[in-house]
Amino acid sequence: MYRATVLLLLLCTACHVAFSVTDGLLPNGDFEYGPKPSQMKGTVVTAKNAIPNWEISGFVEYIKSGQKQGDMLLVVPGGAFAVRLGNEAFIKQKINVTKNSYYSITFNVARTCAQEEKLNVSVSPNSEPNDWGILPMQTMYSSNGWDTYAWAFQADASEVEITIHNPGVEEDPACGPLIDSVALKFLSNPKRTRSNLLKNGNFEEGPYVFPNADWGVLIPPQIEDDHSPLPGWIIESLKAVKYIDSAHFSVPEGKRAVELVAGKESALAQIVKTIPGKTYILTFNVGDSNNSCEGSMVIEAYAGKDKIEVPYQSKGKGGFKRARFQFKAVSTRTRVMFLSSFYTMKSDNSGSLCGPVLDDVKLLSVRQPRRLL
Ligand SMILES: *[C@@H]1O[C@H](CO)[C@@H](O)[C@H](O)[C@H]1NC(C)=O
Ligand SMILES: *[C@@H]1O[C@H](CO)[C@@H](O)[C@H](O)[C@H]1NC(C)=O
Ligand SMILES: *[C@@H]1O[C@H](CO)[C@@H](O)[C@H](O)[C@H]1NC(C)=O
Repeated sequence: MYRATVLLLLLCTACHVAFSVTDGLLPNGDFEYGPKPSQMKGTVVTAKNAIPNWEISGFVEYIKSGQKQGDMLLVVPGGAFAVRLGNEAFIKQKINVTKNSYYSITFNVARTCAQEEKLNVSVSPNSEPNDWGILPMQTMYSSNGWDTYAWAFQADASEVEITIHNPGVEEDPACGPLIDSVALKFLSNPKRTRSNLLKNGNFEEGPYVFPNADWGVLIPPQIEDDHSPLPGWIIESLKAVKYIDSAHFSVPEGKRAVELVAGKESALAQIVKTIPGKTYILTFNVGDSNNSCEGSMVIEAYAGKDKIEVPYQSKGKGGFKRARFQFKAVSTRTRVMFLSSFYTMKSDNSGSLCGPVLDDVKLLSVRQPRRLL
């Protein structure tokens, strides 16, 4: 029985590797291979298959790092080239994946003109109607102009097509976000265990993080848990939460954590099955990621209508403390939710949003203390 399980696991790992793209950049995902000079007019790409591995539509520009736009210098984070999606333009690529598996896409974006720039990320075929992601670019989170976003999907076929589309229409058709470095990662489906009623409570499973990007990956707002780039977790409300890794930040436990960068405007939640009347204990780490995010911070943790506030005094140099919250369930489903009470900005004059780090969230039920006779 044990052997059979091991064999099955080995087979499945092998089949994932054999038939689908591996974690990391998509083929020509950083757009380093570009159109031939004959397929461009100025910076505008004129043929739909001009960028190797991609198909384009609409007003797409091929941008070299260092190119000027007005008085703005366009600097590309991954390699030397990026694309810009003008009015209603899109880029798409077909990839082979494992049917029914979950994947997350990670890519870099820079807003260039309008505040309201948005991107529509979608995958086809898709058995769910209206299942695309609209990522608003209104808030800039990093200080260098580039933000990294993640989005996730369940593959409904073994060959799917990923599309990144600028649905906007501006007066200047060239206006629109720059895209660079599109990567893909297979997502496993973390389970609830005997030692934790929450899935992925330590945030170790999540989207691809670029080795050269030290600004974290944004998990966009309004993400449902059925295909979240942060498996198990829902992102509620209006703004993103930031996914951070130990290669670039101080992380309390393991290799990954989240930073609540948008005050009360972003909340992270998970719904768990509970038994009414039973007592539960929620424990978690509150800290800072060693990114010059200083000041008095507070994480609010909710379990249904019960709530605690955990203050944390950050010097912006890393560190954390463990918090404990005991509550009695009143329903068969309890919404566990975290948010940061305040907005915080980095003390390095960049004006970037930052906030408390949350990690290693555990939920356990407590045995009722036996009554002594
Ligand atoms: C996907 O796999 C099929 C069958 O092996 C192959 O014909 C097709 O070209 C592959 N598609 C991509 C985008 O790699
Ligand atoms: C997003 O893209 C999908 C697929 O191309 C499309 O069906 C949908 O209408 C788009 N949504 C918006 C709001 O532009
Ligand atoms: C914070 O970052 C500094 C500089 O990179 C490093 O020397 C220090 O060890 C880090 N502290 C923690 C707690 O990770």
